[in-house]
Amino acid sequence: METISIQTKHTQQFIPNSTLQKLLPEALTARETLVKGTGEGNDFLGWIDLPATLDPQIVSDIKVQVKRLAPKSKYIVVIGIGGSYLGARAVIEALQSELQPLMNCNENPTIIYAGHTLSEDYYHQLLHLIESADYSVVVISKSGTTTEPAVAFRILKKHLEQKYGTTEARERIIAITDAKKGALHDIAQQEQYPSFVIPDNVGGRFSVLTPVGLLPIAMAGYNIDALLDGARKMRDICLGNNTLEDNPALLYAVLRNALYRQGKKVEILVNFEPNLKYISEWWKQLYGESEGKDGKGLLPHSLSFTTDLHSMGQYVQEGERLMFETVLSVAHPLNSVELPFDEKNLDGINYLINKSLNDINHSAELGTILAHEEGGVPVIQIQLNKIDEETIGQLIYLFEFACGLSGYMLKVNPFNQPGVEAYKKNMFALLGKPGYSLEK
Ligand code: PA5
Repeated sequence: METISIQTKHTQQFIPNSTLQKLLPEALTARETLVKGTGEGNDFLGWIDLPATLDPQIVSDIKVQVKRLAPKSKYIVVIGIGGSYLGARAVIEALQSELQPLMNCNENPTIIYAGHTLSEDYYHQLLHLIESADYSVVVISKSGTTTEPAVAFRILKKHLEQKYGTTEARERIIAITDAKKGALHDIAQQEQYPSFVIPDNVGGRFSVLTPVGLLPIAMAGYNIDALLDGARKMRDICLGNNTLEDNPALLYAVLRNALYRQGKKVEILVNFEPNLKYISEWWKQLYGESEGKDGKGLLPHSLSFTTDLHSMGQYVQEGERLMFETVLSVAHPLNSVELPFDEKNLDGINYLINKSLNDINHSAELGTILAHEEGGVPVIQIQLNKIDEETIGQLIYLFEFACGLSGYMLKVNPFNQPGVEAYKKNMFALLGKPGYSLEK
């Protein structure tokens, strides 16, 4: 298995290697704090060992549920928000083509999302879509009390019951929630839904390698064993290797902290493969919620190139110099498409015909990196061999582990998210929930 590596060629003129090496002891101390569980938030470190210790029975149970529900479901509606949604969507959308849901040759159910929005129009359309198709529901909430998924589940539970009757509706719902408490836990027990547990010591944004991510990913037809293998491989590297050259998590944590301390306030995660767009959404939550507190933290932003070179490219090249970029660089596509020769050459692109689309995309990538570097934007490159389950498993673990290291280097608790409660209090007060009033 080829492993992910990080290249610093395009950051060197901004931070010399000697500066990075000086920060290594700090990163190693952060790793010790993380692994020994002696830092803040140490009751949420279950994710560190998940790839190695996840009970194989859970993986078998997931496969049993897929075998049972997938053949009778054109759609699986996955209900969840934040950490109970983004990981599954990131992996599924990385592995499937953007166009796949539009193709009619799908052997596996198409995954649709709910509970991530309160838009009335969205639910109207969703109900229209599932009216004439068979579907099942996976409802995910760790607390079991989050408003958005609760609203979506209330609507879909009723719809399922009306469409299939109460008994079959029960068989078409799987709940993933806390082992002991919460409204969803109580409903699942009462209705006797097949259920999976979110471990107490794994926070939402670190939960993709629990049933929260694994069940929807398996429902979509992807290989969760390979995903876990990739994560396990990266875990060995993150825990076992001690230098910046052989441990990409140490290097990434050191690089982003060094750049932040130099005054860079924004990190842009860049892809040249549209499938990786939701990896960026997941990464934004991971780093934004973990580091954005106590008045500190890099602002995580993302762009999809070359699309966004024709919009935000201008700002990155010549706007305020407050950012660096981290490029997800994919070496090999899984498929090939030929650019045809055209005798008339009216479009003037015959000079490209001996190149693959991937060569052209890579030239766009290198051209962009060189231009942005020239424009004062340091560029970190994360090298992925290809986009498959193993590589995505590696990437997930790399980002999670580096996030723990980076948060401790920043001297924040990377495992809490007190700030996400503020909007809820106001929303509950505005909606008249008993016990809530608007704070002046
Ligand atoms: O990372 C987090 O903790 C949050 O994004 C939660 O996952 C999100 O708020 C959903 O919470 P819950 O799973 O309790 O419904």
